[in-house]
Amino acid sequence: MTVTPWGEVIPDKPKAAPQPPVLEVKDLHVHFRTDDGRVYAVNGVSYDVAPGESLAVVGESGCGKSVTAMSILGLVKTPPGIMAGGQVLYRGRDLLKLKPRELRQIRGGKISMIFQDPMTSLNPFLTIRRQLTEAVELHLGLQGDAARDKAVDALRQVGIPAPEDRIDSYPHEFSGGMRQRVMIAMSLVTGPELLIADEPTTALDVTIQAQILELIQRLQRERKMGLVLITHDLSVVAGMCSRVVVMYAGRVVEEAAVDDLFADPRHPYTLSLLESVPRLDEPAGRKLRPIEGLPPKLTSLPAGCAFAPRCRFVRDRCKKEAPKLEPDAEGRKRACFVPIRRGRAVDGR
Ligand SMILES: Nc1ncnc2c1ncn2[C@@H]1O[C@H](COP(=O)(O)OP(=O)(O)OP(=O)(O)O)[C@@H](O)[C@H]1O
Ligand SMILES: [Mg+2]
Repeated sequence: MTVTPWGEVIPDKPKAAPQPPVLEVKDLHVHFRTDDGRVYAVNGVSYDVAPGESLAVVGESGCGKSVTAMSILGLVKTPPGIMAGGQVLYRGRDLLKLKPRELRQIRGGKISMIFQDPMTSLNPFLTIRRQLTEAVELHLGLQGDAARDKAVDALRQVGIPAPEDRIDSYPHEFSGGMRQRVMIAMSLVTGPELLIADEPTTALDVTIQAQILELIQRLQRERKMGLVLITHDLSVVAGMCSRVVVMYAGRVVEEAAVDDLFADPRHPYTLSLLESVPRLDEPAGRKLRPIEGLPPKLTSLPAGCAFAPRCRFVRDRCKKEAPKLEPDAEGRKRACFVPIRRGRAVDGR
């Protein structure tokens, strides 16, 4: 309740109850058995996505972004993969415990995934019509003309010209950008609640990239769909997502609202990542600073913080103990022992 200076009492608006997340990844561990030993690819990753929210997942190559995403939908092959622990809750149900048949009902229906290479999800030997109507029949229970109409409609929504004719083409008859649109149509035709997009445009040229990202963003907003967007491109994150998870060596090292993260990163790795790329929100001429050193070998992770060997703020404790992802004094979540504000250690060291 607020009382104005002239004594008027304004009751508080009833707050909307926070919506339970569509997806919760909880303390996920995924390893791979290889000839060089066990690869610790994902080491306790947790993140969640609220209905209609767009979450970005960023981090250097090999930090476990894709393996985490593949695990959500049971797409990690075991062996060589080992699902070593954790949960993936979709509306409270643990997807890691479902039978393959139950998981197929959710995959491509309630949760869809799009990949960098459309040919991972498109079958080169089947027409687009077969592939789209199959999904519609399986997940929506439509048949015949109704299924076809739904498929044509999906192609139209993603901007395929003359969809009534193009529906009988094979994937190779489309250009790269159009094929990516077909894949998006396929992943959205069933009206999913959550879309996982793993570098959906990296293989495309720049102008087409922007078109495809705009398309994903428009469809996501119109349908109030949750989105997990895995990308290397921080400008895409700033433009499309509201929250970011930063991963390093199979762990989440920082999680923040997009604006907070860009304005004042709290993990040294996030800071380095931001310093290593050009940014539109900063004066031209700022020196780019590549992140020195290499990520650790995932077959033998250091005992302490995995970023310690590359960290300019490193302390003794960091080499012995691995920090947990916890809120700092201002409630910003980061996995680091050294309090950092605006690019400097708070204690000045
Ligand atoms: N089948 C596999 N066998 C062995 N190691 C694997 C396998 N799949 C993934 N890995 C390893 O797991 C680690 C995490 O890989 P992941 O593909 O998740 O990285 P990423 O963050 O998606 O990287 P990128 O940005 O390059 O796509 C990598 O070191 C990778 O080599
Ligand atoms: Mg990847």
